[in-house]
Amino acid sequence: MRRIDYRHQTVIVTGASSGLGAEFARQLAARRSNLVLVARRADRLQNLADDLTRTHGVTVTVVARDLGLPDAGRTLRAELESRGIHATGLVNNAGFGSHDPFRDENPERLQSMIALNVAALVDLSHAYIDPLTSAGNGFLINVASILGYQPTPYLSVYGATKAFVLSFTESLWEETRGTGLRVLAVCPGAVETEFYDAAGSQSADYGSKRATVDHVVKTALDTLDRRSAPPSVITNGRPLALASKVLPRRLVVSAMGWMARRAMHA
Ligand SMILES: NC(=O)c1ccc[n+]([C@@H]2O[C@H](COP(=O)([O-])OP(=O)(O)OC[C@H]3O[C@@H](n4cnc5c(N)ncnc54)[C@H](OP(=O)(O)O)[C@@H]3O)[C@@H](O)[C@H]2O)c1
Repeated sequence: MRRIDYRHQTVIVTGASSGLGAEFARQLAARRSNLVLVARRADRLQNLADDLTRTHGVTVTVVARDLGLPDAGRTLRAELESRGIHATGLVNNAGFGSHDPFRDENPERLQSMIALNVAALVDLSHAYIDPLTSAGNGFLINVASILGYQPTPYLSVYGATKAFVLSFTESLWEETRGTGLRVLAVCPGAVETEFYDAAGSQSADYGSKRATVDHVVKTALDTLDRRSAPPSVITNGRPLALASKVLPRRLVVSAMGWMARRAMHA
């Protein structure tokens, strides 16, 4: 496939008020894409939109929205299209984790996590699969995690949501092959963002070194641009994901539990 011409795109970026989402917005705007920025914190989105419009001359629309609400994808598409905004790219990035023994987790918070990390991502992907495909040059990026490659004790529900995102997105990659739509699951290792504040624990990185958002997003966009792009890319923390492919399952789970306990007590 040809390299993506980002100048003719309108890209929705969810979770654009901080971290990886804000960086996706910055790097896409630098490639001259128009943007729709979605998250709950309107003031942050508006500041970023003003900055990107001023710096790159792109059109940026802000939608302050809780994507954890039911039918988030269909509702967003209907609203944008009623305003004449037709997206050709989608970055499903919004997500959060929670770092605790499962029995101590707040059940409502777990439901919200599944609603955002899984249900909203699926609903948005489904709402936009046809328009992104018919755009001819469209793309769908879903942000998973290296934690999607193996069970994650003490981040048990979060890791399972990311395993879902990885599996789901790789399936879409195969289903849409040859249609012109590019699909990519992005699997970062630990990244320096507000994720750890939201997760309520700085040790949710299992004690590993954190990459910059710049590195992760650049790797994602460079991978998407490859002539024969893979269904997923590990942007950092590759040894952890690779170990889980070759070691016995029982050993992997135990090692993950040991690393998590060690990081919690460090
Ligand atoms: N940081 C890491 O180490 C790491 C590693 C692997 C994967 N990831 C994944 O990367 C993605 C981005 O996370 P990040 O690291 O950039 O963390 P972050 O800085 O905390 O960003 C999370 C984003 O999601 C948005 N969000 C949270 N709840 C939302 C809701 N209910 N509705 C709409 N937006 C919501 C937040 O905005 P508002 O609060 O304004 O709504 C924020 O913009 C997530 O999917 C995360 O799982 C992160």
